[in-house]
Amino acid sequence: MSSRLVVVSNRVADPRKTAAGGLAVALGDVLNKTGGLWFGWSGKVIEAEQGGVAGEGEVHTHQAGAVKLVTVDLSREDHDAYYAGYSNGVLWPVFHYRLDLADFDTGYIAGYRRVNQLFARKLLPLLQPDDIIWVHDYHLIPLAAELRALGCANRIGFFLHIPLPPPLILAAIPGHDWLIRALFSFDLLGFQSKADLGHFTAYAQAEAHAQNVGEGRWRAFNRTVHAGAFPIGIDVDEFQGLAQAKEGLDMYVRMKEEYSRRKLLVGVDRLDYSKGLPQRMRAFRELLASYPDTRDSATLIQIASPSREDVSAYSDILHELESLCGSINGNFGELDWMPVRYMHRTVARARLPGLYRASRVALVTPLRDGMNLVAKEFIAAQDPEDPGVLVLSRFAGAAEQLRDALLVNPYDTAGTAAAIHMALMMPLEERRERHQGLMNSIRRYDVHWWCDSFLEVLGEASAEESGTP
Ligand code: G6P
Repeated sequence: MSSRLVVVSNRVADPRKTAAGGLAVALGDVLNKTGGLWFGWSGKVIEAEQGGVAGEGEVHTHQAGAVKLVTVDLSREDHDAYYAGYSNGVLWPVFHYRLDLADFDTGYIAGYRRVNQLFARKLLPLLQPDDIIWVHDYHLIPLAAELRALGCANRIGFFLHIPLPPPLILAAIPGHDWLIRALFSFDLLGFQSKADLGHFTAYAQAEAHAQNVGEGRWRAFNRTVHAGAFPIGIDVDEFQGLAQAKEGLDMYVRMKEEYSRRKLLVGVDRLDYSKGLPQRMRAFRELLASYPDTRDSATLIQIASPSREDVSAYSDILHELESLCGSINGNFGELDWMPVRYMHRTVARARLPGLYRASRVALVTPLRDGMNLVAKEFIAAQDPEDPGVLVLSRFAGAAEQLRDALLVNPYDTAGTAAAIHMALMMPLEERRERHQGLMNSIRRYDVHWWCDSFLEVLGEASAEESGTP
């Protein structure tokens, strides 16, 4: 790709730092090659008493190698309406099929739009005519429309990292027509799975009367947009490199020593209601109750990293999870064995591969998930000679690809417990075969494939054919 790449996302990471993760590394590679720019929120909220509106929208620029990181501060009011309010209080629950948790406060949508307008205003002067712009995730759905309104004619792609629900769920959002119309200001829309893509095309036809003009292109509102499924992957070599680095190895050795007599199960999630953590705990409790051979021989390490604590649905899930962990340990624990080790904290990324490699089973059982990269990182970290087993929810985007995992319905407590038992008992030969199949998939569809294939299609999308907004 010869054009400069401009990435826009709510959070901006320095791709050179380990903590940034595989996605940042992959985007960093392309950004580096093109001397690109990464634009988004600075993570800073300006309180009114700290100077109020004066500091809002302040732009910071850092050079990270060949990549320019440009970030904007948000006022408290904008942050609360755009991030906590509309993005995480409306779009996140609805897109994860949880209408019951959505807070359709009408004030939020104005703040969401205001911040997208702010981003467009601050980004526009930094753009060159042949830049290719790649916008990420649900925080920024109206960004292309706002940029177009200011005269931006660049090619703009959008990737949704989270699921897109069926049209009748989307239609519950007041203003959903505005939101989906805004998607037509992009030139390419990328979704995590074929199911999500199907929901978009079903919505586009039913609600926006879009015409299918062939080759994945849809026409409505005087624009043509390409839409496709681009399942995101991981940087397998980067993660395996971390597994071999000092922190990864130390962690592996410590865990192996600590659990030499027991089989380790592992769960690593943000503490989010979409991750199905209470359901997972109930399945684990069922395992201990129904399969006595697992008592004293299996330990579940569950890391739940704090997330979005200013949104009320997140504090509710915390209490439910803590009470379940407490009751499992209370009912089944022994003086020398606690069934669940639960941690409400973030674990350094560099230690995760060691933890994964020392674990016999990973529990990745979200109620809904766009993709779930923990599943893929667990696979990458395994010893191919003695690999662990992945228990994966059929409702994670990853389940479309990872057919060699043990797929479960996380709402089915007994069925999930049976699958966990099967995973714990699985003979070495079967573990190896399944792991080989899973490795082939994550290697073939890795994060570089994702990046390259999205940008290739975006590069081919003709700007003229997209028409005027
Ligand atoms: C999901 C979203 C990302 C988001 C991340 C962490 O993976 O798709 O856009 O950055 O969660 O959530 P946070 O609200 O802390 O950015």
